[in-house]
Amino acid sequence: MSRLVVEGSQWGDEGKGKITDFLAQESDVVVRFQGGNNAGHTIKFNGCKYALKLIPSGIFNKNIKNVLANGMVINPKALLEELDLLKKQGITEYQLYISNRATVVMPYHIDLDGAKEELLGDKKIGTTKKGIGPAYTDKADRIGLRIGDLLNENYFRSRLEDALKIKNRELSLYGLKEYDLESLFNEYMEYAKKLKPYICDTSVLLNEEIKKNSKILFEGAQGAMLCLDHGTFPYVTSSSPIASSVPLNCGIAPKYIDNVLGIAKAYTTRVGEGPFPTEIFDEIAHTIRETGNEYGTVTRRPRRIGWFDAVVIKHAARVSGINQLAVMLLDVLTGLDEVKVCTHYNLNGKIIDYMPSCLEEFENCQPIYETFKGWKEDISKVTTFEELPANCQAYLKAIERITGIEISMFSVGPDRLQTIVLKEVFNA
Ligand code: GDP
Ligand code: IMO
Ligand code: MG
Repeated sequence: MSRLVVEGSQWGDEGKGKITDFLAQESDVVVRFQGGNNAGHTIKFNGCKYALKLIPSGIFNKNIKNVLANGMVINPKALLEELDLLKKQGITEYQLYISNRATVVMPYHIDLDGAKEELLGDKKIGTTKKGIGPAYTDKADRIGLRIGDLLNENYFRSRLEDALKIKNRELSLYGLKEYDLESLFNEYMEYAKKLKPYICDTSVLLNEEIKKNSKILFEGAQGAMLCLDHGTFPYVTSSSPIASSVPLNCGIAPKYIDNVLGIAKAYTTRVGEGPFPTEIFDEIAHTIRETGNEYGTVTRRPRRIGWFDAVVIKHAARVSGINQLAVMLLDVLTGLDEVKVCTHYNLNGKIIDYMPSCLEEFENCQPIYETFKGWKEDISKVTTFEELPANCQAYLKAIERITGIEISMFSVGPDRLQTIVLKEVFNA
């Protein structure tokens, strides 16, 4: 029992980076399996703060193998910048492996991401404008370039030539600047030189690690509600951030996934557009945003705030097999008179406990709440469940009861030390 998936169970930014970093201390391998630098994972320990986008949260321990798997879309320039930043912060010794089958994010993907959003106007998705959607589109359209292609100059040039035939036509339709084959080719060959030492077949590596019974942590980016298949389509990202996508996105068999830890805030946040039934706009939302520093790591946009939505968590658990929860940012709710959990939705008079697939119906869902007494005591230094104020304990117990999922961990501050383990998660 040594393979665990850490998955966001809301709309992203649940604290996956913090938990992955915490659990990485007992892992042999940490794997990012989807997404790209649309992710922003914040980690704090020993008084330092790190913001990871593409790099797995096991990078701080030189004994851990960090893998960027085939399901990712990787902007080589952004990756090299991230490695440079880590170097400036003193992180120079690490093990990094990049899948030769991962997709390359090209500058035209970023241009198209922005242009499409502009065209959609007030119907825009609110993307991070990192080219994620257009890069995955090209993968599905079979004109995407792969990281491994960078290692073969002639092959890469011919693939880029083919891609540019199509992409330059598309760019001109949007009135955007077209790309010159030679200069783009030369730019990417420079990145290739620097990334070459890390590129390999990560499926082979992972299967070898599985044979050795290594402890492997799969670190999701985004969250289940942003899943292309099971999220609030079309207001989603272009990959599948849930545990069921791990085997395909990593090149391992489904039977090797043992446990799924869903990461959830003690409330809910969302960046970007799209429906959000438990969203609140009042003074409480403002307090939570400021106390929790709820501003996007990647885009600095203020995050939208809402109460904990158990319907969302149950949906995430249903589609991806979450069997334990980590409840994050519990400290942020301290001081509120009362806290709420959404248990059901009222959809035009019908009480439901599932998420309608039709966006229009989802937009019409009115949350039905159970309300609990808040707590005023500072909880940021507690180290056990028992030290929590009674009302806070009752709130966590209510989350367990309403979602039907056991809480294995909770978190009372951004630092690695402010993490309380209730149950062994790797061997749940
Ligand atoms: P991720 O994308 O899921 O890794 O989450 P982000 O890093 O984007 O956002 C989570 C934010 O909450 C970060 O700024 C973390 O440092 C912070 N954080 C994580 N856990 C806690 C916690 O328990 N309490 C507080 N106050 N902040 C936390
Ligand atoms: P982490 O890993 C929160 C959101 C964007 C937008 C939608 C599509 O830090 O939790 P995209 O650029 O992916 O095409 O944008 O998805 N989004 C995130 N929201 N956290 C993230 O990552 C996100 N990555 C994408 O805001 O609504
Ligand atoms: Mg984030």
